[in-house]
Amino acid sequence: MTVNLKSCFTQYRTRVDGALDHWLPGDDIHPTHLHEAMRYATFNGGKRVRPLLTYLTGEALNIAPEQLDGPACAIELIHSYSLVHDDLPAMDDDDLRRGKPTCHKAYDEATAILVGDGLQALAFYILAHDDNMVDDTNARLRMCALLAQSSGSRGMVGGQAIDLAAVGKSLSLAELQDMHIHKTGALIRTSVMLAAYSKPDLDNGLIEKLDHYAKCIGLNFQIKDDILDIEADTETLGKPQGSDVDANKPTYPAIVGMEDAKRMMMDLHQEALDSLTPFGDKAERLRQLAEYIISREY
Ligand code: IPE
Ligand code: IPE
Ligand code: MG
Ligand code: MG
Ligand code: MG
Repeated sequence: MTVNLKSCFTQYRTRVDGALDHWLPGDDIHPTHLHEAMRYATFNGGKRVRPLLTYLTGEALNIAPEQLDGPACAIELIHSYSLVHDDLPAMDDDDLRRGKPTCHKAYDEATAILVGDGLQALAFYILAHDDNMVDDTNARLRMCALLAQSSGSRGMVGGQAIDLAAVGKSLSLAELQDMHIHKTGALIRTSVMLAAYSKPDLDNGLIEKLDHYAKCIGLNFQIKDDILDIEADTETLGKPQGSDVDANKPTYPAIVGMEDAKRMMMDLHQEALDSLTPFGDKAERLRQLAEYIISREY
């Protein structure tokens, strides 16, 4: 990664962390134990890929970052909640997340369930209340509806249900893709589309191009996650290496083999880049983020 790109990522990560700190109740606010745990689950070294996507889509569309702090926080809160629940004993039963004990290990299972519930509700509160977001009620409503759909049973939560039902089964490639598109792709797509919806007069053709870019990198994000589960080590990953293999999860490398998984990732990457052509130089950071998603080490 170039120095320039690194400092761009750092700048937006710091930005969204400041906004999250603003919205999350302090750990001195009643009920303090829950608020402390919500902060623990949010400020624990996540890569902030989804907020980066929101801000960088904003760069491609000339949207001021102030307008995107709310959407960036909302998507990261939903994502953080999904990880807290994903790690619970009833789901993936993992003890390590972002290099630290998972929320139910640092606290307890009941607290971890409530942390997820609290983070989820806060996401929608922000979309409804942030004064700096786009000043168009319809656009706001569309954002709420999109986030609700992509995080619910027809999006991420649905994908998690498909994932759990698939343990130990041999899925077809189409079924595997469907699972990935729901459990991970939906929120990645929404990270891009929340920025697009901040510009209510955006041309439909451009929306479709952005949407296609987002779908390609969303699927790639989970393919890379599956590959890292095999190729990385626990210390670098910050979560247990081999967790999918141990739990007999259907993954891209398990279903199509490592070589084909990587080839499919490169094909999707090219498709993502092609979708950005109409945006010219303004989409350079989005191209670099697509590259980061497939080349990251954790
Ligand atoms: C991990 O997401 C879970 C998946 C959807 C594959 P990230 O890799 O974005 O996790 P953090 O936020 O950086 O910890
Ligand atoms: C999790 O997928 C996706 C969501 C949390 C929605 P994984 O179970 O593969 O994520 P990791 O590998 O635990 O981060
Ligand atoms: Mg899982
Ligand atoms: Mg997991
Ligand atoms: Mg995984």
